[in-house]
Amino acid sequence: MLDKDVQIRSDGLSVSDMNKVRKALHALHNLEIMATNIYRCQISDSMPELKIDLIAAMKNEMGHIQDFLVKLFEYGLKPVWYRWIFWMAGWIIGTFSRFGGKKAILRAGIWTESKAVRHYEELLHAAPWDQPTAEVIEKDRQDECVHLNLWKTLLDEN
Ligand SMILES: [Fe+2]
Ligand SMILES: [Fe+2]
Repeated sequence: MLDKDVQIRSDGLSVSDMNKVRKALHALHNLEIMATNIYRCQISDSMPELKIDLIAAMKNEMGHIQDFLVKLFEYGLKPVWYRWIFWMAGWIIGTFSRFGGKKAILRAGIWTESKAVRHYEELLHAAPWDQPTAEVIEKDRQDECVHLNLWKTLLDEN
C-alpha cells in the first residue's frame, strides 16, 4: 500500500452517516478478528489434509482485518475496546471445532462464512461508502463466498 492509497474519508459526512459508517466498520473489523482466530485455532497436525486450506483462509481473514483497520483510521475511527470478545469467540469456536474433527471444522467454517456473506450483503448497503471502500467490502465479500464454497465442497466429499 502506498501513501496515495490512503485517504481521509470522513470529510463532508453528516453525523448520521458517520454513525452508519462507524457501526458497519466496527462490525466488519470485529467479525474478521473472530474469523481469523477460528481458522488459526483449527489448524492442526492431526488433520494435514485441511492444513493448507486453513492457513490460506486464516491469511485471507488477516488481510480483511487489515482492510478494515485501515478504513477505520481513514474515517477517523478506532477499533472498539471490546474486540477481545470477538477474539475469544473465535478462539472458542476454532478450538472446540478442532476437537470435534474434520466435519466439525468444516461445519464451523460453513456457519461462520454463511453469517459473513449475509453480514457483508447488509453492510455493503448500510452506509454511504465511497467507491474505494465499497470495492474493498465487495472484494472481501467475494473472498467469503470462496471460503463458503470450499468448505461446502470439502464437506460434501466426506
Ligand atoms: Fe473475512
Ligand atoms: Fe472468510
